[in-house]
Amino acid sequence: KSIVEKIEKIQILACGTSRHAAMVGAYLLEQFAGVPTNVYFASEFRYSPPPVSPNTLTIGVSQSGETADTLAALRMEKERRDSMNDSNFSFHHLGITNRLDSSLARELDNVIDIGSGIEIGVAATKTFLGQMLSFYGLTILFASHKQKRTTQEILDLSNDLRLVPNQILDLIKKHDALSKEIAHMFVETKDVIFLGRGINYPIALEGALKLKEISYIHAQGYPAGELKHGPIALLDQNVPVISIAVPGLVYEKVLSNSQEAKARDARLIGVALDGPESEMFDQLFSIPEVSEWISPLLTVVPLQLFSYHIAAHKGLDVDQPRNLAKSVTVE
Ligand code: AGP
Repeated sequence: KSIVEKIEKIQILACGTSRHAAMVGAYLLEQFAGVPTNVYFASEFRYSPPPVSPNTLTIGVSQSGETADTLAALRMEKERRDSMNDSNFSFHHLGITNRLDSSLARELDNVIDIGSGIEIGVAATKTFLGQMLSFYGLTILFASHKQKRTTQEILDLSNDLRLVPNQILDLIKKHDALSKEIAHMFVETKDVIFLGRGINYPIALEGALKLKEISYIHAQGYPAGELKHGPIALLDQNVPVISIAVPGLVYEKVLSNSQEAKARDARLIGVALDGPESEMFDQLFSIPEVSEWISPLLTVVPLQLFSYHIAAHKGLDVDQPRNLAKSVTVE
């Protein structure tokens, strides 16, 4: 049996934006390739790791490859597995990084270089896309070995991925102007809620993180179905809601969750298809109709532009936001 065939479970350790990419990855690995996958905050994993499971692949995701929590969590996992001296519990591992010259790349035997080029801005954007792409590659690899998907399904996913670069270019051209146009509406905004479901729930989290990091606006991402379990109490005309609603498994659900927000007077911004359903949105970042599997690669782009333009409009330093470092090398 090859290692890929042997792996029964995957655990992913990461922080911040890298963890959001890992969550998209976990969705793909579980739902497309059929491999049970968990994502951990590296900082939490260090002090409350799950019981050691057999035939498990541990993946560390870090743009910089220098994040102290991620490195420490990986070292700890290696140590506890090595000390068991049992081949069923070996430390099968993989790093995903943008820096081949990093500690992470030096310490691990197997590394995917996302090759996004040096990222200068503290807020990770292009490397988020690069990390997600690595997970698409892994998903195709696992799906091919686990026989969970037909050859045609795997081919369709690969072919859809080939179209993504041009689709992203189009989105940037289209939405740069719109983000700039609506940025002024957010100068006084104190709170924003991002909604997404399924594979786009991590994109709601990432949209909120970008807004906090560079625009200094408090934002929270929620799986849209959770709105009614508490956050809906926050909504009024001063709390805009950004809803990621793309066709697929949970499309109708997200639309109806968005409608609930609208009924509470929230300004509703959609990252959605341009069609009859999108009439409920006060502003629309339209997305082309693509397979739900690859949609996160597109839905995140307008959210990145949106945070950028709000920050620029407020005269903030978008590359070097206050209180943040490009890599967090302390615990
Ligand atoms: C991303 O915009 C942030 N600056 C931050 O959340 C970052 O993703 C996190 O600190 C992890 O960094 P890493 O990918 O270099 O490990």
